[in-house]
Amino acid sequence: MKNIILIGFMGAGKTTVGRFLAWEKKMKFVDTDERIVLEQGMEIPDIFAQKGEGFFRDLETELLTRMQEDTCDAVISVGGGMPVRKQNRALLRSLGCVIYLSASKQTILERVRNDGSRPMLAGGGLEEKVERLMREREGFYRRAAHIDVTTDGRSVRQVLKIIEQETRRFR
Ligand code: S3P
Repeated sequence: MKNIILIGFMGAGKTTVGRFLAWEKKMKFVDTDERIVLEQGMEIPDIFAQKGEGFFRDLETELLTRMQEDTCDAVISVGGGMPVRKQNRALLRSLGCVIYLSASKQTILERVRNDGSRPMLAGGGLEEKVERLMREREGFYRRAAHIDVTTDGRSVRQVLKIIEQETRRFR
């Protein structure tokens, strides 16, 4: 079976859902942020601070390109900004079935409020930042995805069940 790729905004649950999904389906789990941290030997906020956002975005594209060759039968969770580049959207879709995990602004705010590990949301004005980025990115997520799954008010188990049903037609 091909890969299952989870995209969506920061705090949408990509990593949590991805880990459970991989475990349930006995597939590998790959998280692009974790891969980048491992390969660079630096945490994401340090990469942003020392090398800049553009450098991080290039690392994301380079990793996605490499994954076309070396990644199959995996559940892949990608950073929230990955689908913004057109080139990345094409790369994501050619990797396998792309699932957009969506959530309302309120849900996202609750999940990211006390987390200092996301440079895109650092430095105050959290609500405005989340609102603007969500508005900018919504169309990119929808264009990149084969399937949309709303996570609002749903447990991880419920989200997994919907993914299981929706991905059947991709086998
Ligand atoms: C980012 C999301 C983060 C990480 C980086 C940038 C973004 O991943 O890639 O901080 O631009 O949305 P998560 O979506 O896993 O938080």
